[in-house]
Amino acid sequence: MPHIPVLLLEVVHHLSPQKGESYLDVTAGYGGHAEAIINLTNCPEKAVLVDRDQNAVSHLKDRFHNVAVEVRKSAFLEASQKLVAENAQFDLILADLGVSSPQLDQAERGFSLAKEASLDMRMDQSQELTALELVNTLNQEELTKILRDLGEEPRAQRIASAIIAHKPVATTTELAAIVAQTAPRQYSGRKRIHPATKVFQALRIAVNSELTQLELSLPLWEKLLAPGGRLAVITFHSLEDRLVKSYFKEQAGGYTATLNILTKRPITGSEHEIAINPRARSAKLRAAAKIKK
Ligand SMILES: C[S@@+](CC[C@H](N)C(=O)[O-])C[C@H]1O[C@@H](n2cnc3c(N)ncnc32)[C@H](O)[C@@H]1O
Repeated sequence: MPHIPVLLLEVVHHLSPQKGESYLDVTAGYGGHAEAIINLTNCPEKAVLVDRDQNAVSHLKDRFHNVAVEVRKSAFLEASQKLVAENAQFDLILADLGVSSPQLDQAERGFSLAKEASLDMRMDQSQELTALELVNTLNQEELTKILRDLGEEPRAQRIASAIIAHKPVATTTELAAIVAQTAPRQYSGRKRIHPATKVFQALRIAVNSELTQLELSLPLWEKLLAPGGRLAVITFHSLEDRLVKSYFKEQAGGYTATLNILTKRPITGSEHEIAINPRARSAKLRAAAKIKK
């Protein structure tokens, strides 16, 4: 399935791109948001597109081959640190977190519990740590903590103990079956959510250090914003949304406020969008503007 950008109209509304403005996309993926925004700024030479996935980077280079955008293959924390060191400033910054549809669809990437593959789950395939290594080297306590903290899985201990008992676990479908065996009855039958969904989510977040990347990047994105610049972040997980919400709140309070929150409540997908793009189901958009001093 091609990647359909989520909350596209809402992102454009809150970033409000103006002609000539500069743009940093830290999760450019397949370039759907980027293309819409660059069309509005009409200034590709002031656009920097970042992604840690080589497939996405190759696609971006192809999609924007006839315009002067800069594409960088990097995790966004490291890319943002470099841009701060280069004294870069942007009018518009977008982070659309999580995984892309092509990452989920390509069985060999190991993100999908329904597609048989080695347990990989790396967004950056040059990274050493894989889900296979995590699952087979962590002890029960460490595994429980990951499932509980990153997957918000209430049966974390039980599942971790089943995984440890079945070690070594090699594939996605093997792991999904082990977790399914521990599930209470209500999960069986026609329930749409697979009992291993939260386990896969937790492992993916751990393998890719997703929460650390976000937490450490938020202040860097604020630094990278030009005065009056706008930052939009789309999250797909309550822990990510909490980080964004509390960072914005901290920076927007009192006389020393540096950010102006543009979204009182997180923006979510309409029923229509969710019907045509199920990825939009858990998407939450928050945006803020840097106060001009
Ligand atoms: C939801 S997709 C973005 C889709 C994009 N907005 C579009 O319209 O095509 C998320 C992308 O962010 C990338 N990504 C996630 N976390 C990242 C990180 N910490 N650093 C760099 N890229 C990251 C993933 O590889 C994936 O391609």
